[in-house]
Amino acid sequence: MGIRIMSWRSIAQSSARAIADFAIVQLSAVVALLVVGLRLQDQPPMTAEAGIAILRDYYFGVFFPLSVIFPVVHAALGVYTTTRTYTLEAKVRRAAMSAFIATLTFVFLNFLVTRTSVLPRSSALLFSLLVISATAAARWLKAWIFHSDELARLAAPAAAVMPSPAPRKADKVLVVGGAGYIGAIVLEKLLARGQNVRLLDRLVYGDQAIAHLQRYPNLEFMPGDCRNIQDVVRAMADVRDVIHLAAIVGDPACTEDDKNALEINYAATRMMIEIAKGHGVERFLFASSCSVYGASDLLMDENSKTVPVSLYGETKLNSEKALLEAKSDKFHPVVLRFATVFGLAPRPRFDLVVNLLTAKAFQEGTITIYNGEQWRPFIHVADIAEAVVMTLSAPLDAVSGEILNVGDDRLNYTLAQIADIIKSEFPDTRVEQVENSDRRNYRVSFAKIRERVGFEATRNIEDGVRELKLAFERGLIGNYQNAFYSNILFIKERGKVDSGNEVSSKVMAAFADVPVGN
Ligand SMILES: NC(=O)c1ccc[n+]([C@@H]2O[C@H](COP(=O)([O-])OP(=O)(O)OC[C@H]3O[C@@H](n4cnc5c(N)ncnc54)[C@H](O)[C@@H]3O)[C@@H](O)[C@H]2O)c1
Repeated sequence: MGIRIMSWRSIAQSSARAIADFAIVQLSAVVALLVVGLRLQDQPPMTAEAGIAILRDYYFGVFFPLSVIFPVVHAALGVYTTTRTYTLEAKVRRAAMSAFIATLTFVFLNFLVTRTSVLPRSSALLFSLLVISATAAARWLKAWIFHSDELARLAAPAAAVMPSPAPRKADKVLVVGGAGYIGAIVLEKLLARGQNVRLLDRLVYGDQAIAHLQRYPNLEFMPGDCRNIQDVVRAMADVRDVIHLAAIVGDPACTEDDKNALEINYAATRMMIEIAKGHGVERFLFASSCSVYGASDLLMDENSKTVPVSLYGETKLNSEKALLEAKSDKFHPVVLRFATVFGLAPRPRFDLVVNLLTAKAFQEGTITIYNGEQWRPFIHVADIAEAVVMTLSAPLDAVSGEILNVGDDRLNYTLAQIADIIKSEFPDTRVEQVENSDRRNYRVSFAKIRERVGFEATRNIEDGVRELKLAFERGLIGNYQNAFYSNILFIKERGKVDSGNEVSSKVMAAFADVPVGN
């Protein structure tokens, strides 16, 4: 693994923050000691000079050296590193928590060192309150001065009240867009568990990925379009949970078919939320993408700021917001931000980096790496399907209204590292390095899904490359450049994914506007 080096600008910004926080601690101490000083004055025979001398000795002899604990705790809790990518709310929460822990540690060490209470309890309390509130307030103040747009977003009115859901019923899961690369494996896993499943899919890329599932009596296939209100209403009747995978997937495909990408990836999600709530759907899992993080040198987690750099990322992010705002005590959305998928499935996509490089290495002997230093998180298709199924049965309070990155910390790689792995499986491969304008770069933390759902990947990149290699050797996959294997090629060759329905177009237009405050 390559080592990430912070830029000088990052170091300077972090240092400035650390200095400001340290100054807050010192100022808070001075105020608290002044309060003590005023009290000592009232206690003869202590003279004012003697009182000042005690406090001065305490400040320089005990307080100042011990106060080093504050920057140490802040640094350990990521206040100057990880949280730099966080939203303002999350940043303020983490800074306040860190200041609280540091204050407790300080008070304890202070007691150990002095064995007396130089600071009376009321002054210790005052000191604690000042440090915690000022450390948090400093973040707000900075945002107010430099980023007032984020404060405006936080102050925006809450989402409109949604209609109350109908009564609960049967135990059936609706998978929307389940006939694709990931969906086919999700279906396999659900059906193998004996789950009753309904599939709504317009089979953009054909039915090849699900042909082998027809033998399952617990699978009900409903051909249809998730933009069509009648199709969705029929599909949601009597279902308990929804897994929403349907989309125009990937940056190039969305750019090529932007109108339909906006309809399917965003407007249809908003319409489906309303219908799901009306039908009393309990859990609504939404397939989002780690690409909402855009471009950053820092490790991103679910609190990090999202800066999508493509239409695809934007539509996913806007759908996320609509879903999370719709959460109620009966409707439980879960946003799953998938890492980039690789590996063999009934419809392997060769417009994804690991699969594409493996195919090229096998069939052409040359691979081209664009922007080799850029980071991406990866995950095997069988593992992502397992994560979806696990989230469906995870305790509701662990996942309801939550965003979960779906992947594994061990599978963050630079694209150059991916090339090395491919080369180790295909030693004769020639590797070309090229730079282009693609700015996507993100390394992602997957601690939350590990803790809340218990998910960890079972396969690594080498496993995926080897199984694809075997599939090619056995002739299970033909020409990887066939449009069936690539969303962008498919759209270019066979045309855009229009709804072909005037009513749907009007309904989608009504749902396509991004609400103010986004
Ligand atoms: N594959 C990845 O690396 C990856 C990464 C992050 C997120 N995701 C997300 O996971 C989900 C599944 O991805 P995938 O790789 O399986 O994609 P895919 O393109 O293989 O499958 C998409 C499925 O959605 C269906 N679909 C498209 N438009 C539809 C419509 N209007 N109505 C009904 N069905 C429709 C297609 O027929 C297809 O079966 C997507 O939402 C995608 O954004 C995938």
